Amino acid sequence: MNSLINLQMRVLDDEGVKTIFRDTQNRIRSMAMIHEKLIQSDSLIRIDFGQYIQDLCRALLRTFAAAESGVRMSVDAEPVHVPLKIAVPCGLVINELFSNVLKYAFPEPFEGQKEVHITFKENDGQLELIMRDNGVGKRTVRTKSDTSLGRELVELLIVQQLNGSMNIETDQGTRIVLHIPLE
Ligand SMILES: Nc1ncnc2c1ncn2[C@@H]1O[C@H](COP(=O)(O)OP(=O)(O)O)[C@@H](O)[C@H]1O
Ligand SMILES: [Mg+2]
Repeated sequence: MNSLINLQMRVLDDEGVKTIFRDTQNRIRSMAMIHEKLIQSDSLIRIDFGQYIQDLCRALLRTFAAAESGVRMSVDAEPVHVPLKIAVPCGLVINELFSNVLKYAFPEPFEGQKEVHITFKENDGQLELIMRDNGVGKRTVRTKSDTSLGRELVELLIVQQLNGSMNIETDQGTRIVLHIPLE
């Protein structure tokens, strides 16, 4: 699937179209990787979501060639087993949020070490995911005219589909905290 899209991308010369293809490819991959994990796991209904986050974020770093541009990533994720109906929307959300960091947090020229930290754990029947970058944060203020499909998708999935909550702080870089009930 991904290699097919890669092939198609090679014949595109319009940057805008390329961007749409890349983002779509990443969304598809976030779900496809869950199915790969499912096939490899003993349980057909739950996956090790900590390992999934590691793999997904590494794949995104490669897609955005972020390692070459000096972005340092750390993932501190507990091996929590998460049911599929939560894992799939969560994977999409992480894909959106991490893509945003790689796309917007570190516009060049950027002074100092670019860093993104992700922590994931379970506490009292709730999943907690924190994604923090030391990028430009609130200097990129959104206007109403922005077509921000990503933000809408994230809110829809977290709040409506998963009954969770999302908090964003933009004092120093961007820090996003997600809480998602397991039941
Ligand atoms: N980690 C971040 N650091 C800086 N700016 C960000 C970050 N995440 C999001 N943004 C800003 O918020 C805007 C909205 O993001 P999003 O809704 O995902 O839209 P899109 O990714 O399609 O532009 C982005 O265009 C960007 O300006
Ligand atoms: Mg986005």
